[in-house]
Amino acid sequence: MQEQPCFAFVMIYVVLSALWILASAVTRYSIPEEIPVGTVIANIATDLGLDAHSLLERKVKLDYIHSKKYLEINKDTGELYIAEKIDREYLCPAKTSSFCFLKMDVIIESPIRIFNIELEIMDINDNAPQFRRERIPLDVSESTTPGERFSLTNAVDADVGENSIKTYYLSDSDTFTIEIQSGSDGTKYVDLVLKANLDREKQAVHTLTLTAVDGGVPARSGTASIIVQVLDTNDNAPQFDRQVYSVDLIENAPIGTLIMQMNATDLDEGVNAEVIYSFTLYTSEKTQETFSLDPSSGEIRVKDMIDFEEVKSFEMYVEAKDKAVNPLSGQCKILVFITDLNDNHPEITIKSFQSSIRENDPVGTVIAIISVSDRDSGDNGKVVLSIHNAEILPFALNKSSEDFFELTVTESLDREVKNSYDITFLVTDRGTPPLTDNETISLTIQDVNDNAPTFPQSLYTIYLMENNEPGTPAGVIIATVSAQDPDLNQNAHISYIIISRDKTVIPLVSMIDINSESGDLYSKQSFNYENLKSFHFEVQATDSGVPSLNSNLTVNVFITDENDNSPVILPPYSEPGSVNSENIPYSAEAGYFVAKIRAVDADSGYNALLNTYIFHLFR
Ligand SMILES: *[C@@H]1O[C@H](CO)[C@@H](O)[C@H](O)[C@H]1NC(C)=O
Ligand SMILES: *[C@@H]1O[C@H](CO)[C@@H](O)[C@H](O)[C@H]1NC(C)=O
Ligand SMILES: *[C@@H]1O[C@H](CO)[C@@H](O)[C@H](O)[C@H]1NC(C)=O
Ligand SMILES: *[C@@H]1O[C@H](CO)[C@@H](O)[C@H](O)[C@H]1NC(C)=O
Repeated sequence: MQEQPCFAFVMIYVVLSALWILASAVTRYSIPEEIPVGTVIANIATDLGLDAHSLLERKVKLDYIHSKKYLEINKDTGELYIAEKIDREYLCPAKTSSFCFLKMDVIIESPIRIFNIELEIMDINDNAPQFRRERIPLDVSESTTPGERFSLTNAVDADVGENSIKTYYLSDSDTFTIEIQSGSDGTKYVDLVLKANLDREKQAVHTLTLTAVDGGVPARSGTASIIVQVLDTNDNAPQFDRQVYSVDLIENAPIGTLIMQMNATDLDEGVNAEVIYSFTLYTSEKTQETFSLDPSSGEIRVKDMIDFEEVKSFEMYVEAKDKAVNPLSGQCKILVFITDLNDNHPEITIKSFQSSIRENDPVGTVIAIISVSDRDSGDNGKVVLSIHNAEILPFALNKSSEDFFELTVTESLDREVKNSYDITFLVTDRGTPPLTDNETISLTIQDVNDNAPTFPQSLYTIYLMENNEPGTPAGVIIATVSAQDPDLNQNAHISYIIISRDKTVIPLVSMIDINSESGDLYSKQSFNYENLKSFHFEVQATDSGVPSLNSNLTVNVFITDENDNSPVILPPYSEPGSVNSENIPYSAEAGYFVAKIRAVDADSGYNALLNTYIFHLFR
């Protein structure tokens, strides 16, 4: 495509500049380079004044200084034409001069003549500017100040003059520009100039395109990429993504538990971005003993046991510092909130306690004051106090104030039913799982003389044979009465006395006595049934309580009969040894009533039942 306009240009050029310079013995032509092979550039015969028809005969030939045979003569017509394409840049590689000549001689014989021909090869823009390397790497420090220049290697253009490099262009950039300077020989030197501050963290690599353009028509160009690598400077401090972090941590967390991983970012690179973590001086010693901070990984771990009851939160200040020669640092604060674990048992404290109360103490009497506590907080520290088996105990808890309870009597007590109580307090917190504690107190019920001695029966009957042996001096035990008293000790210590309300028998004292301790009854005399058949008296049992209580027992004594009396015949037959005669008639028949003999016996019952024997005394 490019060949056509170029060729047209050449043809015109030949016509205009094929001059025959007579003055010198040198014939000069001027042609552009790169003319196609076969193109006629001049007619030698005409230009040298030779007969074209004699040329063949006179053995015309071209003699070159150069080895290459660029031109040829048509021996019939005398036309000089291109035999091989002429590259001006090949022919005249030196750029010092913009002139390039091809010298040759035209030699003809018979007679010999030599004509000098100089062919000026004119430059055409057949070479584009070219950079030695397509990529121009450039390292620029991030801290470089605007205005700094960096020389770039020039592009080269084999063409000369107008066709050589005219200018350079740089692709659009906010950061860089170029400045072009011309050397004394016209060479254009190009510098890259920084026009704005660099920020590696924003853009680490700038890729620019440098274009060299020559002055030919049409112009040709060549490009190279400039790869600007921005070298980091430590212009960024490590930064935490938050100023304050808060973490919840359960108390008693095992040692080594990871609570947080610090992550500060430093926009720089390399050592400028490598971060070391440490606690700052604001972090208390206690906190530093409790938590460890790994300088390189930033891991914060539990180092010591944490007791919520001791410390409820921790505050740490962490610094992140980069490893640059002039390091920069960033800080943050970490709040660790300890959450309570139900790790403390509730506790019962018996504040005051009377270990015994009287059985007649009234309902409402306060026996003990109990306080409860739990070192945990929240539900873990909320406690419920109760009494074990409360439903069967005559006691209840009454909250007197926060965490204080009174143990009071709710039903009247009876020592004779139950003389002591073991009261177990149970306390449970509301944690999950709940923790408990218990505490037992023993309460003794003191006796009160609330029971009178009692006899098993209200009436006691003694059958006593008459003629009993009288007891001397104390008497003979005829019976023992015994009363019971469920009270205790002296309240149950019974003494017996005889009191009599039987006015008919006097003096009782001479008849009966009682052992006040044992209740043994003694008869003090021998009884005669025939005189006294029965009597009664009262025994009073009295305990030693204050005041004392008593009860009475009626004792009935029945004297039983002994056959101690002979029957006695009543008068007139009663005279012993007396003879009584009764007259009976002869006519008396059987069944005739003669006399009535009566006998009596002082005894009773069988002892008084009489048999009558009739002794017939015949004289
Ligand atoms: C630190 O933060 C950066 C940026 O937020 C993230 O890419 C990286 O994964 C984090 N590293 C850790 C260990 O959390
Ligand atoms: C608990 O005590 C208060 C005052 O101390 C009293 O008013 C209340 O009746 C008591 N309750 C019981 C059940 O004893
Ligand atoms: C009281 O506590 C002991 C030990 O702490 C336990 O063995 C017992 O079962 C508890 N008693 C009650 C009634 O909970
Ligand atoms: C027993 O008898 C005595 C004397 O009569 C009397 O004072 C007392 O009250 C009686 N005791 C009882 C419990 O009735």
